Amino acid sequence: MTQKFKVLVTRKWPKPVEQVLKESFDTTLNEDDIPLSEIELIEGINSFDAILPTVTDVISDKVISSEGRRAKIIGNFGVGFNNIDIESAKKNRVVVTNTPEVLTDCTADIAMLLLLGVARRGSEGEYHVRKSEWVGWRPTHMMGTKVTGKTLGLVGMGRIAQAVAQKAHFGFNMKIIFFDPYFKNSEIIEKYKAKACNSIEEVLETSDYVSLHCPSTKETKGLINYDALSKMKKTSFLINTARGDIVVEDDLAKGLEEGIIKGAGLDVYEAEPMVNPKLLKLKNVFLLPHLGSATEETREAMGMRVYDNISSFFEGKEPADRVV
Ligand code: DGY
Repeated sequence: MTQKFKVLVTRKWPKPVEQVLKESFDTTLNEDDIPLSEIELIEGINSFDAILPTVTDVISDKVISSEGRRAKIIGNFGVGFNNIDIESAKKNRVVVTNTPEVLTDCTADIAMLLLLGVARRGSEGEYHVRKSEWVGWRPTHMMGTKVTGKTLGLVGMGRIAQAVAQKAHFGFNMKIIFFDPYFKNSEIIEKYKAKACNSIEEVLETSDYVSLHCPSTKETKGLINYDALSKMKKTSFLINTARGDIVVEDDLAKGLEEGIIKGAGLDVYEAEPMVNPKLLKLKNVFLLPHLGSATEETREAMGMRVYDNISSFFEGKEPADRVV
């Protein structure tokens, strides 16, 4: 590349990707990994050709519409892009890209970890052993809930949901049902012997495990509230690896306390990194700190995907993962 474009990376990225970025562009890294303030993001968008935020950086209309904006591309490190005001990007003709596909399997693995963890009381068991509370095997000790052969209900049937279906159906012999009004691929439905439900209520009412795989939008924000939880079986579990604000956490904590569902496995939260204190007090929740894509292989692949997207853009080509 002859011209060195100025690129701002908002958080610390895997070393091999930082190296490639430094070689190709005039790159400013964030070695300290301290999140940038809104003012710093505005300064960034005004003085760099590309900014590379991640899912925790709020790229608001104020940032994008900043007078004197220099950046023409926002290369998001993450498949979800609800951190970016997409309408503002469209209005200001700023290109936005994301990182699909490369994190599908790892995120689906975490959904299975949550499902197994909460059903089989993995975290409780581990603490029990570490605290030296275990007094030996006995027939009624720490009984959990069976996973194999149960019904898994997927809300949304995109890539990650399909990868969960693959693991759950072929690995755990689970029956797959789903609700996704936009999904019509009969080959995939046939592959997993899946049942397309006509409503989300049907998924909630008939699943033993409900796993959320829809994006966070105006329509899905607060989708899983007390009313929705009340439709689930008392013996069922809720799994969320999508976005925290799809679930009303106060309602979930209340539902778990009252026993309207049996448990929940969460990787994402309404106000990350804050976790609702009511959830922290409960034993029947399995909590992870937004680890869906957190493997060395995947995080590196995500970074390379951003690199490819901005490289294409600067070469005057269409970035493969253009959102707008
Ligand atoms: C994403 O990419 O949207 C995840 O939430 C972080 O990997």
